[in-house]
Amino acid sequence: MTVTPRRPSRTAVLTAVARALHREEPPPWVLDDPLAMGLAGDDGPAVARRFRTELSTESLLSFTRWVCVRARLPEDIVEKAVEQGVEQYVILGAGLDSFAYRRSDLVSHLRVYEVDHPASQAWKRQRLQEMGIRPPANLTYAPIDFEHQTLRRGLTTAGFDFAAPAVFSWIGVTMYLTVEAIRSTLATIATCAPGTRIVLTYNQPLSALHGIALELDSAIRTFATEAGEPFLSLFIPKEIEALLREIGFADIMHFGPDEAVRTYFPGRTDVRFGGAQRLVAATVAANR
Ligand SMILES: C[S@@+](CC[C@H](N)C(=O)[O-])C[C@H]1O[C@@H](n2cnc3c(N)ncnc32)[C@H](O)[C@@H]1O
Repeated sequence: MTVTPRRPSRTAVLTAVARALHREEPPPWVLDDPLAMGLAGDDGPAVARRFRTELSTESLLSFTRWVCVRARLPEDIVEKAVEQGVEQYVILGAGLDSFAYRRSDLVSHLRVYEVDHPASQAWKRQRLQEMGIRPPANLTYAPIDFEHQTLRRGLTTAGFDFAAPAVFSWIGVTMYLTVEAIRSTLATIATCAPGTRIVLTYNQPLSALHGIALELDSAIRTFATEAGEPFLSLFIPKEIEALLREIGFADIMHFGPDEAVRTYFPGRTDVRFGGAQRLVAATVAANR
């Protein structure tokens, strides 16, 4: 099987910088990621400068807060799952996600699998080493190209137990993949033990956007395209729900701007999200 040779993901640097910039707001923060700027590496400050010059204040706040919301929701889902006895967490397209190095309270109850494109993963591991961060013993790296390798084989090699329930997160990735790769990855997850939960983001087509969503979406797409990571797959909520149901998921929970404000910024009338990207969670149905 071939792995497309490519360089480490630059959009992973973009979202790490967004998590770092969120900490420049007065607390409380949706997510406190003190490792984000360090993980972003040498390019971090230039990316932060570009955000500040190219985005309006409103768009920048909307982006940095949303990137933290989309990292926080999976952590809350994992926390609840751990209380119910779940012991596996798979972070798909992990990029510079720092859960495994920051949430020892949860990691100590879990086997964590970081799945990412081999080039991005190798670069992240090097950054961790340079920062003097040792991966926890119960973290396993699974290098996989979703377009050319199967998640089943990658996770099996890494020691994942398909018979035991798990949580999967897939944050900020589906828009960079073909529909075939998304479908086959979801189909593998659907073979996991019933009750296994997945939370993922998807991006909406331009025709579904207005207001600040359009400004932000255009800036992010420009950055991603320049980085060689163009958007390939877009969905509206009913399309992603139909795909998840067709593949064998139930208990679909949509999570967009309204839910984000209600859950993580209660009572805040100044917080606005465009909704170009949304979250959705679903559970592997018992009778597929
Ligand atoms: C925008 S980053 C998101 C990283 C992280 N989840 C976050 O929210 O910050 C996109 C991630 O998708 C991964 N990715 C893109 N295409 C991929 C592919 N074909 N196979 C595996 N990973 C891929 C990249 O390596 C990168 O880590």
